[in-house]
Amino acid sequence: MGRLAGKVAVVFGGARGIGLATVKEFLAEGAIVFASDIREPVEDIPGYSIVDATDEGQVGAFVDGVIAEAGRIDVLFNNVGIHLGKSLVDTTLAEFDDIFALNVRAAFLGTRAVLPHMIERKAGSIITTSSNGGVMGRPGDPVYNATKHALVGLTKSIAVAHAHQGIRANTVNPGAIDTDMLRGTLASPEEFETKQHQLVASTPAARVGEAWEVAKAVVFLASDESRFVNGVVLPIDGAKAAGAMPGNRYSLDFELGVR
Ligand SMILES: NC(=O)c1ccc[n+]([C@@H]2O[C@H](COP(=O)([O-])OP(=O)(O)OC[C@H]3O[C@@H](n4cnc5c(N)ncnc54)[C@H](O)[C@@H]3O)[C@@H](O)[C@H]2O)c1
Repeated sequence: MGRLAGKVAVVFGGARGIGLATVKEFLAEGAIVFASDIREPVEDIPGYSIVDATDEGQVGAFVDGVIAEAGRIDVLFNNVGIHLGKSLVDTTLAEFDDIFALNVRAAFLGTRAVLPHMIERKAGSIITTSSNGGVMGRPGDPVYNATKHALVGLTKSIAVAHAHQGIRANTVNPGAIDTDMLRGTLASPEEFETKQHQLVASTPAARVGEAWEVAKAVVFLASDESRFVNGVVLPIDGAKAAGAMPGNRYSLDFELGVR
């Protein structure tokens, strides 16, 4: 029997990358999955919906629809995110507002829509994708990192406030994972190949990660195997957040554009 057999899971940001890998792991572990994203999925996913996770009305209607159809929500995966690889002085106010209005707002709206239902049922696991940038400073993407720190604060506070009601809230904090987002932070596929050595140099495991390696950790946090794990920030990063690698600061990843 699957580790998520019979559990109803809602996923925001499930069209590709870490989100899609998690949808596939959830399905393989027996969950009933309601995946969503603002874009069409790159693979066919049963029960898929187009939802803008920053739109209060769309998020509410989607969550209400899942509860009407499935009767409950056991697992919420807040995975929506965009990256901004700019130094602080180069970041415009509009860019600052936009990334907070996406990365933080989406997790707020998704969680706020599902939480009353979980409180009523006295059960639920909420997992939010933060980042290495949610636990450590990085030179090249300070505002993105601020949004990912905000998700850690949100998650820990939910855990503390609602643990007594049977609700768990945890973050996964990926390091460099080979997805469209990572490749999109670079100018070209060729640049990805050239910059790989920098990503690898700043990762003690000496490689970038795969989306499924994050998905496996999300499954654990979604499952009852982690029933006493609450308010945790879980790096999935080949030890990158555990400490600085010796070397030139300009070999750190995301140093692009930072002088
Ligand atoms: N790839 C990495 O190296 C890495 C590292 C740390 C954290 N993360 C985080 O992991 C998560 C997934 O990233 P990924 O690497 O799979 O990249 P990705 O770009 O493939 O996934 C992000 C998903 O969010 C969706 N999305 C964007 N705006 C949306 C909106 N308004 N409503 C609904 N969906 C929306 C995108 O369509 C996309 O499918 C993100 O939160 C990202 O910040 C990624």
